[in-house]
Amino acid sequence: MSRKTAIITGATKGIGKAIAARFLQEGFDIGICARNEADLSGFKLLYEKQFPGQKIVSRKADLEQRRDAEQFGQDMLAEFGHIDILVNNAGVFLPGTVLEEEFEQLDRQINTNLYSAYILSQLIGKHMCGQASGHIINICSIAGLQAYGGGSSYSISKYAMLGMSDNFREALKPYKIKVTAVCPGPTMSASWEGSGVPEEKLIPAEDIATMVFACTQTSFNTCVDRLVVDTTADL
Ligand SMILES: NC(=O)c1ccc[n+]([C@@H]2O[C@H](COP(=O)([O-])OP(=O)(O)OC[C@H]3O[C@@H](n4cnc5c(N)ncnc54)[C@H](OP(=O)(O)O)[C@@H]3O)[C@@H](O)[C@H]2O)c1
Repeated sequence: MSRKTAIITGATKGIGKAIAARFLQEGFDIGICARNEADLSGFKLLYEKQFPGQKIVSRKADLEQRRDAEQFGQDMLAEFGHIDILVNNAGVFLPGTVLEEEFEQLDRQINTNLYSAYILSQLIGKHMCGQASGHIINICSIAGLQAYGGGSSYSISKYAMLGMSDNFREALKPYKIKVTAVCPGPTMSASWEGSGVPEEKLIPAEDIATMVFACTQTSFNTCVDRLVVDTTADL
């Protein structure tokens, strides 16, 4: 029997890297993307040594660009044929408030955070319908559950991801495809470097990976629709 396959976007750092590593540990073949080619090569070098025999396919893609998102999805379908898990993780956080930020901030974050996930969910979701199995996991945020003063457009893009997740879940339900929206609180990653917030107050990225993997382990008819993972620390 062939191994299971997980596709993870933005997997060279932070949460995406921890999720990709977790699926490798669980015996999956994986497909990943990011913009920085050196980071992708570094990822492959590191994990091909640790998991010889498992397939790691990496592609340089800027998911802010619709064509790159489509191309990445098509490449993954051509490479693997069967895709069990899609994790829409790639995202960008640009600080700013609705009263002051340039329109471009919203545009960039909607393109990267929302449209790329929409494009890949549609492309790979349709393919999963043919398989009558599959699971899409969208890495949203607690900033998609309440307004976030320091990152208004980011918050707007994450609210939209929750609505998108609900709509894909509804559309894919008849085909037994699951859609989970994971909403992490502040999680250790490059975006927190230099913030002055002590690392011990942040959620380790590996904890998000543990919860993502757990969501994929439920029974046939059980779907975790939404999962909030927050820190107990005051920031
Ligand atoms: N960290 C948190 O506190 C937190 C909390 C809630 C939700 N989240 C969400 O979790 C996800 C991951 O966040 P993170 O903090 O782990 O981020 P991160 O450490 O900055 O890593 C982001 C990853 O995505 C890739 N990426 C960024 N823009 C991309 C693009 N346009 N096209 C393709 N790949 C791209 C990056 O690689 P390249 O730079 O090479 O492209 C990198 O591999 C995001 O959706 C974020 O909104 C994070």
